[in-house]
Amino acid sequence: MDATRQRFLMCRPTYFAVDYAINPWMDPTAPVDVDLAVRQWERLREVYLDLGHTVEEIAPVPGLPDMVFAANGGTVIDGRAMAVQFRDPQRADEAPAYRAWFEAAGFEMYDPKHVNEGEGDVLLAGDHLLAGTGFRTAHASHAQLQEVFGYPVITMQLVDPRFYHLDTALTVLDERTVAYLPEAFSPGSQAVLRRLFPDAVHATLADAEVLGLNAVSDGRHVVLPEQATGLAATLRDRGYQTIGVDLSELRKAGGGPKCCTLRLRQGKANR
Ligand code: ARG
Repeated sequence: MDATRQRFLMCRPTYFAVDYAINPWMDPTAPVDVDLAVRQWERLREVYLDLGHTVEEIAPVPGLPDMVFAANGGTVIDGRAMAVQFRDPQRADEAPAYRAWFEAAGFEMYDPKHVNEGEGDVLLAGDHLLAGTGFRTAHASHAQLQEVFGYPVITMQLVDPRFYHLDTALTVLDERTVAYLPEAFSPGSQAVLRRLFPDAVHATLADAEVLGLNAVSDGRHVVLPEQATGLAATLRDRGYQTIGVDLSELRKAGGGPKCCTLRLRQGKANR
């Protein structure tokens, strides 16, 4: 399996907190250790650098505690960046901050017409765009994604509120394969996934409950929460190299490694 060098955008969790609840993981009464969150995030960043990836950083904004979850800042494919529109007002101001970053970085900009939470719900798998809906990203935005990026969009219906973004229920391992939690999807979406990815890895609820599917693969190395031991073993059996990271503090907001990481895809040659 070949690893491809990737370019990522990340946001340091300087102002991380859990002071509202917009998913079932978030408990504003539970304590959060921001310094530990920063150290865990720095470790994730170092793992990427050690793998040979490039990490760019967007400046965190005070008062936007979820801005660390860069995957929700946009969708960037073939040099085009589609900005986001959050469902919840608490996150609304993240959208222009990320948009400004993409514009300054020279991406061709597209603005969302409907609720769209970026790579949290939009995953490029080979030549298909898998697009989640049910909790955050509006179904109507899937048509716009197809127009903007020119990849066939496959709607994925999410049914379990704990797995509110597509990237909490499914991870792309390489051009051909994904891993996912079947019961996080509607029966019809499960049938589509079986059809598109007959060799997919089926994760267990135990692994998904530690956000094990919120993983980042370069086609060979898979970075995932270290608590997802069963999934890691299965992936190693399949020939992937797994790297466990501990993001326990960020998980209190419902996020893992993939949520903290936005893939910047330059152009066809360097997807
Ligand atoms: N607290 C954030 C929210 O509920 C977590 C976002 C996690 N990001 C992701 N790509 N799944 O919006």
